[in-house]
Amino acid sequence: MKIAVLGGTGDIGEGFALHWAEKHHIRIGSRKSEKAEAAAEQFNETLTLFERKGDISGFDNRTAAEDADVIILAIPYAHVSGVIDVVRPVLSDQIIVSPVVPMSRDEYFKYDAPARGSAAQEIQAMLPEGMNMVAAFHTVASRKLCSLDPAFQCDVMVCGDDRHSKDVIISLTDEVVCLRPLDVGPLALASTIESLTPLLLNIAVLNHLKDPSIKVL
Ligand SMILES: NC(=O)c1ccc[n+]([C@@H]2O[C@H](COP(=O)([O-])OP(=O)(O)OC[C@H]3O[C@@H](n4cnc5c(N)ncnc54)[C@H](OP(=O)(O)O)[C@@H]3O)[C@@H](O)[C@H]2O)c1
Repeated sequence: MKIAVLGGTGDIGEGFALHWAEKHHIRIGSRKSEKAEAAAEQFNETLTLFERKGDISGFDNRTAAEDADVIILAIPYAHVSGVIDVVRPVLSDQIIVSPVVPMSRDEYFKYDAPARGSAAQEIQAMLPEGMNMVAAFHTVASRKLCSLDPAFQCDVMVCGDDRHSKDVIISLTDEVVCLRPLDVGPLALASTIESLTPLLLNIAVLNHLKDPSIKVL
């Protein structure tokens, strides 16, 4: 598959690229193609260091999204609508994946529920009609994902309304040895998984835990 990781120059994008590059064509997206090209080169070097093969390339966000089978929105919540505006002309039948968490921090991290209930539902409303949205990966700590440490294991809660799209993302998640996909239900429940991220961050700060993730026992 061709997987576009928009904002793939950032923290979580690198983890997706490193894990999926062996079997898929990874298209790192950025506002600046040179930045995406540099990140892709660096990720390919990391793969070589770990004696893994890969196919990672860099593009501007719109070019990365065009012709992709799957688009991961690895963008902070505040900037997603701007990126959707840029890529909308090339959106048609790609599966869109949101790991996006709307949250803020004062004394503690807190979930900032958007008017439609969740970031995933807000983003779905921005997409051309008929496009399929899946929400996943909110509770995966980027540093642990990027480390390629085989000892790291965590669960990925996945929700969405289209069975085929959800199965594609469940299967992609299953390909990553450290991740176990768990079906959580329809997109209407996305807030239940998005809100786990501020919970994890508060646990991390208050209990001196580094990059905690979730495993359902
Ligand atoms: N980090 C984690 O551990 C983690 C875990 C689970 C879920 N998430 C979610 O995944 C998403 C990405 O997280 P992240 O930590 O990877 O974010 P990040 O590193 O802060 O940013 C990702 C990318 O977003 C792009 N970006 C920044 N400002 C922008 C703007 N004004 N307009 C358009 N694009 C902009 C940048 O790409 P360019 O400068 O190249 O355009 C940047 O590299 C977030 O929604 C977050 O909630 C993160």
